[in-house]
Amino acid sequence: MDPTSGWMRLKITEKRVIAKDTYWLALAHPEGSALPGFEAGAHVTMKMPNGVNRPYSLCGDPADTGHYEVAIKREANGRGGSISLADGTQVGDWMDVSAPVNAFSLDAKAKSFLLVAGGIGITPMRAMLQQLQAEGLRAFKLVYLTRDADSTAFLDELNSEAWAGKVMVHHDQGDAQKAFDLWKLFDKPVTGCHVYCCGPQRLMDEVKDMTGHWPSSSVHFESFGSGNALQTDDREFTVELARTGKTVRVGAGQSLLDALRGERVLVPSSCESGTCGSCKVTLLEGEADHRDFVLMDDEKSQHIMVCVSRACSAHLVLDL
Ligand code: FES
Repeated sequence: MDPTSGWMRLKITEKRVIAKDTYWLALAHPEGSALPGFEAGAHVTMKMPNGVNRPYSLCGDPADTGHYEVAIKREANGRGGSISLADGTQVGDWMDVSAPVNAFSLDAKAKSFLLVAGGIGITPMRAMLQQLQAEGLRAFKLVYLTRDADSTAFLDELNSEAWAGKVMVHHDQGDAQKAFDLWKLFDKPVTGCHVYCCGPQRLMDEVKDMTGHWPSSSVHFESFGSGNALQTDDREFTVELARTGKTVRVGAGQSLLDALRGERVLVPSSCESGTCGSCKVTLLEGEADHRDFVLMDDEKSQHIMVCVSRACSAHLVLDL
């Protein structure tokens, strides 16, 4: 690890297509040195070949420090990070990778776990399965929701005997009539059970709605790699920075956080998916389009999570 930059230079040692538009990569130290350890739910930030930084959940076994594994969905309509990683890298390439950070860790006091993954949201869950299986102490179950077998990462592995009774994969074939009935999971809160959900915004919104009667501290969200922060009908807006008077334009296909970075306005950030709470900024004027999973309703008129949220009004004023 470079002590000044905080980046590690790792080599891509394997790369495979594991489902439709879904790539799995293994990265290791070039001399085989052990990598910094991590717990399930952790992510690393990677510098993409096109120059942008993107966070990706580590999906390999946390007990294995010989290499890191990530899996990405190539999002044709995303911000370009996943396309750059999918199309612009090959085995043998070097990548700058941060040390692991965990904003989605398994609760130490939980008695059991219900994991709900949608699409590429399986990545942190795969590490959780391995950690919980190795621990061997607490009950867990994964419900993995995808469109069809072709688009399902790690399908053979998760359908194998090793996970019998602990993993349920459901395909809806893109038909709302065949959608999994989530309510039967959340109808009756289970004492000591913690829910972990990672996947598309629609899935996380549903789980959030259906767990309103669960203790809020027992429901956790993550959305890495699911590419859900940007929407096709997003519009450009402007942000005024009250402390300097500067105005920043946020393009339709750009996050507010990236626009601020482009102007060298640094806001702390980690998950870049609206789940960790580190990029909270005071909103002084304007109406925000909140897309995070952090702010409480009574905070929304005065704060904004700049990694995912945008503007309903054409102009916002931030305390920056
Ligand atoms: S960086 Fe985590 S909520 Fe914005």
